[in-house]
Amino acid sequence: MTGEDGYFGERVARRYDESSADMFLPGIVDTAVDVLAELTGTGTALELGIGTGRIALPLSQRGVKVRGIDLSRAMVARLHAKPGGSAIDVTIGDFSTAQVPDTFSLVYSVFNTITYLTSQEAQVACFRNVAAHLQPGGRFVVEVEVPEVRKLPPGHKIVPLYSSGTQWAFDVYDMSTQSMTSNYIEIENGRGENHSIPFRYVWPSELDLMAQMAGLRLYNRWGGWTRHPFTHESAKHVSVWEKPGY
Ligand SMILES: C[S@@+](CC[C@H](N)C(=O)[O-])C[C@H]1O[C@@H](n2cnc3c(N)ncnc32)[C@H](O)[C@@H]1O
Repeated sequence: MTGEDGYFGERVARRYDESSADMFLPGIVDTAVDVLAELTGTGTALELGIGTGRIALPLSQRGVKVRGIDLSRAMVARLHAKPGGSAIDVTIGDFSTAQVPDTFSLVYSVFNTITYLTSQEAQVACFRNVAAHLQPGGRFVVEVEVPEVRKLPPGHKIVPLYSSGTQWAFDVYDMSTQSMTSNYIEIENGRGENHSIPFRYVWPSELDLMAQMAGLRLYNRWGGWTRHPFTHESAKHVSVWEKPGY
């Protein structure tokens, strides 16, 4: 079930930093922030799905002026409660359509956030919206997994994620629509809780086509934030598209 905060309502927001603790490790955050700070240069940056500021806050602490868009007031309240968080303006809305009254040298989306747009139409709209918010010569960075369909045995739709005495999680794929849901079941104080989040997984080549349709061109693609090459075996990519200059 979703409310006005989407899938990141109060209950998820309260536990987000703790439950994503691996992604908050300095070794993970710093390499991403290094790349994003360099690509922003002397300009300003906009994060799509800024959340609790995992990346935006340290980027801002490097002296980069950062803004954000997010659907979830509950997530953004956490960002604004952190030291330095109130310096980051956030527009509450859907990043595929929301308008921010500025243009940027960098727009970025990390941690698979682009896949929260669950239709091709919405992902295409996102690229167009980004292009409208980029200055000439500006860049759009996306960090996203390569679809994990190779984990599916022939004829199967489900990939188990983890299983313990009280917690289970699994992904369900529909190859006909590129939709995938992540499903979580947990027993707490003797009561069962479950929630599911829908995604649309997307291939690098399809993202390139969306970029092309929005007037952007591929500038670079790495296998991760350390800028190692993107290969046949890469589990994810960090892609950078550029809006042509003057
Ligand atoms: C996985 S969290 C990532 C948060 C943060 N970027 C990070 O790296 O920790 C995804 C965030 O995107 C937001 N989000 C998801 N879909 C969105 C949409 N269509 N428009 C705006 N925000 C969205 C969620 O509310 C959530 O804060």
